[in-house]
Amino acid sequence: MIVLDKNISLTSPDEEEKTLRPKKLHDYIGQEDIKEMLEVFIKASIKRDESLDHMLLYGPPGLGKTTLAMITANELNKNIKITNGASLEKTGDLVSLLSTLEEGDVLFIDEIHRLPRVLEEVLYSAMEDYVIDIVIGKEEETRSLRIDLPPFTLIGATTRFGDISSPLRDRFGVVFRLKYYTLKELEKIGERTARLYGNDYEFESIKILSKRSRGTPRIINRLFRRVRDYADIKNNSLISVNITQEALKKLGISDEGLNETDFRYLKSLIQNFNGGPVGVISLATSISEEVTTVEDVYEPYLIKKGFISRTSRGRIANEKAYKVLGINYYTGFIKQ
Ligand SMILES: Nc1ncnc2c1ncn2[C@@H]1O[C@H](COP(=O)(O)OP(=O)(O)OP(=O)(O)O)[C@@H](O)[C@H]1O
Ligand SMILES: [Mg+2]
Repeated sequence: MIVLDKNISLTSPDEEEKTLRPKKLHDYIGQEDIKEMLEVFIKASIKRDESLDHMLLYGPPGLGKTTLAMITANELNKNIKITNGASLEKTGDLVSLLSTLEEGDVLFIDEIHRLPRVLEEVLYSAMEDYVIDIVIGKEEETRSLRIDLPPFTLIGATTRFGDISSPLRDRFGVVFRLKYYTLKELEKIGERTARLYGNDYEFESIKILSKRSRGTPRIINRLFRRVRDYADIKNNSLISVNITQEALKKLGISDEGLNETDFRYLKSLIQNFNGGPVGVISLATSISEEVTTVEDVYEPYLIKKGFISRTSRGRIANEKAYKVLGINYYTGFIKQ
């Protein structure tokens, strides 16, 4: 059973994602090292009838952290309670959530780096000794109360590993870093999505989509859905190469999967800041994006693909960035 914390509202993209989310470990494509280890840990936990060790999942958005948490609970055949570090404010919020846990349940805290420090401290003893110590009453009338919890598994997810304090990090027995997916893996995910939606497809279209998906399952699924819209209207639902290319062109997605925001980022870096070095705050402000979004969503891929580099003095544009914008690297002139 999945229980959502009252503070979480599901937006429509989440609803869409739910249909495609693999439910079993063997349907989860890629991340082979993680899968192999996790399978052993899950089997051992079932065999010993002990709760699974606390697990921290980190990596860029859309790589499958939430999915993996849900699969873990499912494979353990336990309930999962889902919450978000940003929606827990008071000690009481966390305590009431913890006190609903049953033996072996999974508590999933997404964006765990956003958990307030006081709540983190509540988690320490909950994770280590399955107890929570709370202070009740006011001023001189205070007394402390200890609540015992059943053994449970905390799964934390974050896009910002560096923002998690080391005492919290150290309390996770298992830490997994999710990696960008290879083209082959994305192709498999794309084919699975096509099958689930019941669309016929030319394999070449799936290949085209994989190349433009920034190594990210969420993006291939999202692109697929947009292409599918075109195909359903114009092409008897067949995902053909022509329809795929037409849709991608309309969406403004480049051959390497750069989107409009990436282009604005690169343009600003080159034209407003002479190619850098420039600090991320100035850069993000110049394109009206949040610093965290720029750092977590856009830059990892631009760095991975060699468009930009992160140096101690700030971001710099590499030759490849000039090239993709049609600007001469040496003269700064726009090529005709
Ligand atoms: N390994 C995978 N195999 C197949 N589909 C996947 C896989 N990983 C992710 N997906 C698909 O991608 C979507 C996004 O994954 P998920 O929500 O788990 O990412 P996330 O890492 O939690 O992202 P965020 O950091 O934004 O919370 C899922 O709905 C699922 O359909
Ligand atoms: Mg998630």
